Amino acid sequence: MTAGYWEREGLERAILGALAAAGRDVDALTVDALAPADHFHGGGKAATDRLARLAGIRPGMHVLDVGGGLGGPARTLATYGAHVTVVDVTESFVRTGAALTARLGLADRVEHRVGDALALDVPAASFDLVWTQNSGMSILDKERLYLGFARALRPGGVLAIQEPMAGPVQPVIFPVMWARDASSSFLRTPPAMRAVMEAAGFRVRVWDDVTAETAGPGTADEIPPYFASRIIMGDALDAIVRAGHRNREEGRIVLIQAVLDRP
Ligand SMILES: C[S@@+](CC[C@H](N)C(=O)[O-])C[C@H]1O[C@@H](n2cnc3c(N)ncnc32)[C@H](O)[C@@H]1O
Repeated sequence: MTAGYWEREGLERAILGALAAAGRDVDALTVDALAPADHFHGGGKAATDRLARLAGIRPGMHVLDVGGGLGGPARTLATYGAHVTVVDVTESFVRTGAALTARLGLADRVEHRVGDALALDVPAASFDLVWTQNSGMSILDKERLYLGFARALRPGGVLAIQEPMAGPVQPVIFPVMWARDASSSFLRTPPAMRAVMEAAGFRVRVWDDVTAETAGPGTADEIPPYFASRIIMGDALDAIVRAGHRNREEGRIVLIQAVLDRP
């Protein structure tokens, strides 16, 4: 990833301001009310809930959310009774995520840490579920990434991913949400990704193409000011949404949700 690509100052203020302007009571926020502003991936909270159900989320589970961003997915998993450790390389996202978690009274269930997905500083075999949602696109070394996920999971643990992958038509049209150009975007096809995961020891249980059901609008005009993508990307969002629409419609990028077992 280009260093600092996602870093933003004043994010908590921007999020609360945008929600307040939309009529939300920011002093009595709920996970659902915050969701448009803190889920930063295709399909929003509905996609997170879908993947959580597929993964068999249960109370008491210990979850590692790699590239967890502002923590929207982590706080959603906490509502199912899970304990979540979020690791993300973007310091301002980690700071903002921790502040939002405290605001929602979930600090006993969700922890936010700065860290690199390729060098996870967690004990081996310590998590029931490794979760990663729209975070691996700018990581080149997928082999190392998935070996790290396998290491973090206890035997019998589960990996749940939501990941944009290369579609049958190439090349990708830029800019995309995670990269201005091809130098920092590393997508592989679904069969190639599956092979990486299987080589890391995972067994595929569910593999769903959710491109159609998570598709956003064709133009950024339809994205309200309190959505995470608008708050984080600002005016750059317009070109990203236009390119995203073409990437989806022309089969250049697909979105996969998958659940895998670590035997
Ligand atoms: C599009 S955001 C998704 C955030 C969150 N998973 C969500 O769905 O709301 C991508 C996230 O991946 C994180 N990320 C990218 N490369 C990373 C790396 N090498 N290690 C840790 N986090 C990374 C970014 O900082 C960013 O927060």
